[in-house]
Amino acid sequence: MAGDPEGLLRHRVIRTDAVDARERYQLLTSLVVPRPIGWVSTRSADGVLNVAPFSFFSAVASSPMLVSLSIGTRGGVAKDSLRNILDRGAFCVNVVTEGQLEAMNRTAANLPPEGDEFAFAGLAVAEAETVDAPFVANCPAVLECELYKHLDLGSAGGLVLGEVKGVRLDPELPIVEGSAFVDSEGLRPVGRLWGFNYTLLGEVRVLPRPEV
Ligand SMILES: Cc1cc2nc3c(=O)[nH]c(=O)nc-3n(C[C@H](O)[C@H](O)[C@H](O)COP(=O)(O)O)c2cc1C
Repeated sequence: MAGDPEGLLRHRVIRTDAVDARERYQLLTSLVVPRPIGWVSTRSADGVLNVAPFSFFSAVASSPMLVSLSIGTRGGVAKDSLRNILDRGAFCVNVVTEGQLEAMNRTAANLPPEGDEFAFAGLAVAEAETVDAPFVANCPAVLECELYKHLDLGSAGGLVLGEVKGVRLDPELPIVEGSAFVDSEGLRPVGRLWGFNYTLLGEVRVLPRPEV
């Protein structure tokens, strides 16, 4: 095999154009793990409240403070969260912690656009200070975001970049002394693996960078 004269490589290479969409989804979501969950709250043009989880979610930059969300389509139509973000230019990312795992899951139900997902999931709602969006009132950490850029991904939906205009923190969240780091043991974040599998905070290893 080219590049492997001693025959040591044992990998099986799956060409992504030779498998179906389901398999591509299964490979991607079981290998890009664990993913943080952006629990996204929005308001529609008509004022209907919406909240739904998105694990195709990531930090992009810190100055300006940017996050990304990839929101798929349903039956060829944009999901309500994407529609709302484009209509209002704003959304909140509620950080999913252990205490909210089940409530977050309830908000993945596919309600019609006129259904209030806060009410459906029994969640208290409050209004962001810096952007035109609601947030989950008892969530300990919330990123208040303004739409920064939208990239149309065609049949894959849309990629949204949001600029974080406000970081809302419960005063009980422990902050690492002398910094703005939120202590992970205090936050108790949840990560998504694949399917119905989630991961909670396990052992934290401290590994300083090597010096040259
Ligand atoms: C943990 C979790 C993560 C999810 N991540 C995504 C995602 O990254 N992109 C996406 O389009 N849908 C994702 N979904 C599915 C949406 O949450 C679901 O389609 C939801 O009903 C969309 O709501 P909306 O139509 O109100 O926007 C995820 C569901 C769960 C439970």
